Amino acid sequence: MKDDLYNSRKSYEKGELSKKSVDSNPLQQFRSWFYECQDSGGVDEVNAMTLTTIDFDGFPRGRVVLLKKYDEFGFYFYTNYNSEKGKSIEVNNKVSLSFFWPNMERQVIIKGTAQKTSKVDSTNYFHSRPKGSQIGALVSDQSSVIKNRDILERQLKELEVEYENKDIPKPANWGGYLVSPISLGEA
Ligand SMILES: Cc1cc2nc3c(=O)[nH]c(=O)nc-3n(C[C@H](O)[C@H](O)[C@H](O)COP(=O)(O)O)c2cc1C
Repeated sequence: MKDDLYNSRKSYEKGELSKKSVDSNPLQQFRSWFYECQDSGGVDEVNAMTLTTIDFDGFPRGRVVLLKKYDEFGFYFYTNYNSEKGKSIEVNNKVSLSFFWPNMERQVIIKGTAQKTSKVDSTNYFHSRPKGSQIGALVSDQSSVIKNRDILERQLKELEVEYENKDIPKPANWGGYLVSPISLGEA
């Protein structure tokens, strides 16, 4: 059996990066690449990014999260604060975000620091999500082992009934992070 990928190669020729061709404002440059990629229709989730944090054992750990907003302050994603990533950020808020847009032959790597967004911001975003996702956040203990799938599904059904005609309160352990960039680059 042969598992090497020695012959899996292509030549990357879709454009070059030069000082002259990039915007002097990195966020503006990100915005134009983002829309270029979105408009191309060639990537399903343009806003999917790998968030890398430093684990308690000192090793980096990357996982995909969705970019939900970006502005002059940085890049926002939402999660369970009690998750592994939340706990890691609590101890070390130095993180990296990276995007890979294969059809553009482009990646963007952002280095920055993460901080929790305000409760108002988290609540606003929480309530903008479909009701099913809001209920999911109530029952889901992210990063922990599920004891029993039936219990989870029963809880989900009970909550669906309980909140059929009511607003779902944002769980205290759920909210946003803002990653304030220190550097933003393409490689
Ligand atoms: C396409 C995709 C998008 C995801 N988006 C998010 C997200 O926005 N927020 C989140 O907390 N987890 C998201 N996840 C799940 C995370 O990748 C991860 O499994 C989860 O957050 C637990 O990570 P942790 O144990 O390292 O904290 C997404 C996964 C995929 C595959």
